[in-house]
Amino acid sequence: MRSMSYHLRRVSVRRYAARTRMVILNSPNNPSGAAYSARDLAALAEVLVRHPDVVVLTDEIYEHLVYDGFETASIAAVDPRLAPRTITCNGMAKGYGMTGWRIGFAGGPRELIRAIADLQSQNVNAPSTIGQHAAVAALDGPQAYLAERAAAYQARRDLAVARLDAIPGLACHRPEGAFYLFPSCAGVIGKCTPDGRRIDTDFDFVTALLDAEAVATVHGGAFGLSPHFRIAGDRLSTGRCAAPRPGHARLRRAHAAAGGLRLRRQPAIDRRRLSWPGHRRIAADPPALGSPGRSLPARDLQLACGAAAGAAGVRPARYARAC
Ligand SMILES: Cc1ncc(COP(=O)(O)O)c(C=O)c1O
Repeated sequence: MRSMSYHLRRVSVRRYAARTRMVILNSPNNPSGAAYSARDLAALAEVLVRHPDVVVLTDEIYEHLVYDGFETASIAAVDPRLAPRTITCNGMAKGYGMTGWRIGFAGGPRELIRAIADLQSQNVNAPSTIGQHAAVAALDGPQAYLAERAAAYQARRDLAVARLDAIPGLACHRPEGAFYLFPSCAGVIGKCTPDGRRIDTDFDFVTALLDAEAVATVHGGAFGLSPHFRIAGDRLSTGRCAAPRPGHARLRRAHAAAGGLRLRRQPAIDRRRLSWPGHRRIAADPPALGSPGRSLPARDLQLACGAAAGAAGVRPARYARAC
């Protein structure tokens, strides 16, 4: 449902800017997957330049996970007038599948970056040396798989959106990026679960999914937007959690039980579209939504670890084996 938009609107920025200290942008976005084009950002920037006290923080950690040829943009580059008060953040966790390595980075005005570094060095652990070297190896290494993986995610997104949209009472927009789906569950509000519990909120709905079928999602209220719920695409197929077909079937069953709605037949999966060259298949049946934590090709991860370990004085071979 392309018409469902989660974009921050120029009119909202205009309305609140005078009372605002910082605008936080996250594109592509967690939880909605919405992404801002250069044109969208230019429109927001046009308002923000008129409010010189507003600092802009932009989190672009999902920049390599975009679909349908979407071109990401960064607000300080789109409108350099904002550069002196924009902090641009990124990190290794999503694009490079390095969740858990805890490496992020930011660029911005010197005094703000200095203040962040001062605060962080006192309050938070410093990023590990090995993590930093691994990040450098990943950033300097081959980048071709980023596009291949985004294409695989796109196929999985299309499959998941089609299936969710076919469930009566749910409506799923088609995210431009990231690996989340954020469907509306407005159609089940007011219905009852088989054991008589009324579903009044998205929280009730996600609880019913969890209770009935062990499908774990996050209610939209946690992100300030009800009645929606977030499905994290990275978790659906790792083997740690439900693979999408059983997961989806469970979701449909739980939803049907909760809403008493008739279900439609689902289209068959074209499995050939769900893996990509050079990558180990993540779940045998069906592979579907991949984990960014596992989506760095094993070979590249080993190279990164080897480089990192070498730089840190650990024997690379030993470290690579441990991975
Ligand atoms: C928008 C966004 N930014 C940053 C992060 C942080 O990633 P990490 O702490 O793993 O580097 C996340 C993780 O979910 C995220 O969704």
